[in-house]
Amino acid sequence: MLCQLSIASLFISMTAAAGHHSHKYALFDEAVEVSKRSSGNDCEFPTDLGLVAVNEKGTGGGWAIAMDQTCKAGSWCPYACPPGYLSAQWDPEATSYTYPQSQYGGLKCNSDGTLSKGFSGKAYCVEGKGTVSAKNTIGKDVAFCQTVLPGNEEMSIPTNVGANNETVLAVPGTDYWAGTAAHYYVNYPGISVEDACTWGSDANPQGNWSPYVAGANQDDSGNTYVKIGWNPIYLDSSFATTEPNFGIRITCDDESKCNGLQCEIDPTDGINTIKGSSSTGAGAANFCVVTAESGNSAKIEVFSTGSSSSSSSTSNKGVKVLNRGVNATSLATSISASATAATNASHITASATASTSTSAGVARFNTNPIQTIAVVLAVVIYQNLF
Ligand SMILES: *[C@@H]1O[C@H](CO)[C@@H](O)[C@H](O)[C@H]1NC(C)=O
Ligand SMILES: *[C@@H]1O[C@H](CO)[C@@H](O)[C@H](O)[C@H]1NC(C)=O
Ligand SMILES: *[C@@H]1O[C@H](CO)[C@@H](O)[C@H](O)[C@H]1NC(C)=O
Repeated sequence: MLCQLSIASLFISMTAAAGHHSHKYALFDEAVEVSKRSSGNDCEFPTDLGLVAVNEKGTGGGWAIAMDQTCKAGSWCPYACPPGYLSAQWDPEATSYTYPQSQYGGLKCNSDGTLSKGFSGKAYCVEGKGTVSAKNTIGKDVAFCQTVLPGNEEMSIPTNVGANNETVLAVPGTDYWAGTAAHYYVNYPGISVEDACTWGSDANPQGNWSPYVAGANQDDSGNTYVKIGWNPIYLDSSFATTEPNFGIRITCDDESKCNGLQCEIDPTDGINTIKGSSSTGAGAANFCVVTAESGNSAKIEVFSTGSSSSSSSTSNKGVKVLNRGVNATSLATSISASATAATNASHITASATASTSTSAGVARFNTNPIQTIAVVLAVVIYQNLF
């Protein structure tokens, strides 16, 4: 498996490296890479650049944008890269995590239907640091859905971790957009990436309603930070009393070069509990962080918690219902108390602080992008600044 991965990586790296020949683009004032037209002035999703088409059920046509939108002239259109890879294209003028520039990822759609890169000398997708893998010890696929940032922060970038298999996750370094981390929603085993990696609703515990979140990034010294946590949206939903039938934990390839172990969510211990030293973030959701020192690698392991009955995409069959959940009132009030949650990495302290000013945002997501902006920011500030 590892060999296959390396070969795939090499192939894509070489493809990407071709983009570094700057003379290739020197003839263009702006780097127009592809020229495709569809109806009106919309730009079509390019199928020949090694990008991953997502959200194809809607009007997006493959772009990592909302289901009911198109890639319009004048806008930036984010896209998904293959697992382990990150987009290297966004609006060069979008440099901080503020709205609306936080949406300006991907390629620019020009008025004539062509697309431009923001950075002509860079590839479309670049390999992540490769220091974190998702390991699935369950006999069903698990969807890790990464949020699109810069972009609308929908969790539409898919990484399917096959049954009893392992897949490298995309881990950004500090050169990634505005220094942000990669953020993932970890779904119930057995939900396809097509169903999981899209805005969910409180009808199903998937997408942004999945039970757990995870995040990762690497600092300039080569230390990798890996986070797992309870999803605040799950905790604030009707699922809050439902014990998931799977857990997640962080393991390190070399435990002597890892800080923060034990870091595990075993839901049989109770909703919102963490094994190991934990912190509390937005929505009073608990999380833990492991630092894998430079040269070391970590895994986010998904394990079954016993019950052999499964959760399908449309039911909670086979999961125990508990009464240990937190309610919305207690969520809102406990956020401020959690602001001082201390752990390693100043990122985390920053996130806890950020979450206090937006506690009202820890409500349900909604499929209307405008209405969700405040909520998205509230949650994502916490998600991306750890
Ligand atoms: C395991 O996952 C890797 C990486 O995603 C993939 O290339 C490989 O085909 C998978 N193996 C099986 C048996 O599914
Ligand atoms: C929610 O939690 C708070 C604090 O724990 C408690 O005072 C309140 O009664 C709870 N509300 C409901 C509806 O259970
Ligand atoms: C924080 O991480 C650094 C490595 O980046 C490590 O040396 C230090 O011991 C960690 N601190 C704690 C409290 O885990």
